[in-house]
Amino acid sequence: MRAVSEKRLAIERQDRKHAVRRGRFWWLRWENLSFMEPVLAASLKLCGQYKRGFDNVLNVTLTRQELPLKRLPEAFDGFRMLWISDLHFDGIDGLMENVLDRVENVQRDIVVLGGDFCFDHHMTDLAAPRTEHLARTLSKTSPVYAIFGNHDYTPLAEVLGGCGVTLLLNENTAIERNGQALQLIGVDDCHYFKAHDLELAMQGLDKDDCKILLSHSPELYAQAAERGIDLCLSGHTHGGQICLPGGRAVVYSAATPRKCIRGLWTHHDMTGYTSGGAGASGVPVRFNCPGEINLFVLCKQ
Ligand SMILES: [Fe+2]
Repeated sequence: MRAVSEKRLAIERQDRKHAVRRGRFWWLRWENLSFMEPVLAASLKLCGQYKRGFDNVLNVTLTRQELPLKRLPEAFDGFRMLWISDLHFDGIDGLMENVLDRVENVQRDIVVLGGDFCFDHHMTDLAAPRTEHLARTLSKTSPVYAIFGNHDYTPLAEVLGGCGVTLLLNENTAIERNGQALQLIGVDDCHYFKAHDLELAMQGLDKDDCKILLSHSPELYAQAAERGIDLCLSGHTHGGQICLPGGRAVVYSAATPRKCIRGLWTHHDMTGYTSGGAGASGVPVRFNCPGEINLFVLCKQ
């Protein structure tokens, strides 16, 4: 594992949440209005909707998505990747058990943990033991890879490493099969810590390699397409978490076109998939936006 960057460490040492300054009206962004979260929670309780929203979070679904890729080596046709992101499970009792229950019998070749293990912008006492339990359980049946999200902190690197998980912090690793290789590239968080370094993460790769980028937030979509990434897998947006009937997000915290906030999308020659995420943050509720764990099946285009 590459050492945690000084940029991330400096922000972690501040020990408080900072505003994400993006755009002219950054101070109006929902994620910067932390005082609104207790207001929303209290309003939902008052309307008798809080428990329904929380139950929606616990009712995480498993989706299956085929992803055709032009440069996929033949040996990887049918390769199955289980993607689990945005658990935020130290703040959501019962979610870890439900997630493990959903994936127990799912046949897969690898698991990728897409970041955001912690609920808030600090680590609670439950974050490390829950991450360890999840990682140890999943590692029993398949190799596990992970990236960090905007709610993750350096001590989790040791927890994941101790469970045999390969944490990719601005680095790449090859998965080999029958003499062919698939390149997994993992970047650190580009949204809150801005600790990503795609150039460093892609060092040593050939332009003809089949390259899968694991980036917690889809905000690197343009850079990634420009650099010849074949597939970009992300989470972070929670699909909006609270949506209008029909699934349209009311707000989402990512500087991307709306097409990138949930599900399958393309940008130039690159395919992308943004998971709606398994958990929830801010206020642990979901409406019109079910949480998801994704089984991606790669296939030759
Ligand atoms: Fe998240």
